[in-house]
Amino acid sequence: MKHLQQNSGNVDELSAKERAIYSRLNPSQIPHHVAIIMDGNGRWANRRHLPRFVGHRSGVQTVRGVVETAARIGLSYLTLYAFSAENWKRRPRTEVDFLMRLLRQYLKQEVPRLNRNNVRLTYIGRIHELPDAVQERLRWAEEATAGNTGMVLTLALNYGARAEIVDAFRSILTAAKNNGGIDHLHIDEDIVSRHLYGTMPDPDLVIRTSGELRVSNFLLWQIAYAEIYVTGKLWPDFEGVDLLEAIADYQQRERRYGGLSASSNGTGQDDSLASELALHK
Ligand code: FPP
Repeated sequence: MKHLQQNSGNVDELSAKERAIYSRLNPSQIPHHVAIIMDGNGRWANRRHLPRFVGHRSGVQTVRGVVETAARIGLSYLTLYAFSAENWKRRPRTEVDFLMRLLRQYLKQEVPRLNRNNVRLTYIGRIHELPDAVQERLRWAEEATAGNTGMVLTLALNYGARAEIVDAFRSILTAAKNNGGIDHLHIDEDIVSRHLYGTMPDPDLVIRTSGELRVSNFLLWQIAYAEIYVTGKLWPDFEGVDLLEAIADYQQRERRYGGLSASSNGTGQDDSLASELALHK
């Protein structure tokens, strides 16, 4: 089990519209960890006959707003899929360069606001493959927010879930070699979990924008029991109120983790199952 950080939030700072939705929520059942696949910047720009980079720039504004709302409602962990390993390989060089520049700008501008909202910034992904100037800015922002005790904001950068699992296996092997050799190697789910990137608990809720019904190599191990919420809204149109709507929807779900629902908790059913089995002996 990974460490659980608590965030008390500051709901007084929500907008009037956000407060109206928040009032329908059960504050004791805010998910601990929400992970978002931010999708649709390109389509948002296309629909306006604008170049794709305008969509990405607008997507950064959305990141700003959503991070702030999440911190205010007391979410403990927010993870954003900002840049997949596949984006890196499959997009034109100019778009990748633009996204890297945007990320550096975002970090520089955002640190004061993250500090005001008591947000600690972390990253997952093969960060060491990013350009040096980006890595430097990432380290700077991480250190500048390291003292914050509220929400943990994790940016997935040059991230791919299969690569993460491969890296976890490598890390398990290295740890075993340094600890008496692989003859003593014992592997279970908890060990695999602990060798994945980051220290956040598994997400309770995954949100995907722009209507695609895919998980796109995002946190494959960690979302085994997550609830999934897909909205047709394109990422630049997504707002704090949409995050709250997603959480309201999540609170209507019944999480069973492979068990039975509370309304059919097996009472009386064991007897009928036993008599059914007896009939077929
Ligand atoms: C998907 O839009 C989104 C991305 C490739 C990256 C998301 C990036 C941002 C929101 C901006 C940078 C983020 C930070 C934290 C600074 P898409 O281009 O795949 O959209 P499309 O599917 O409509 O083409």
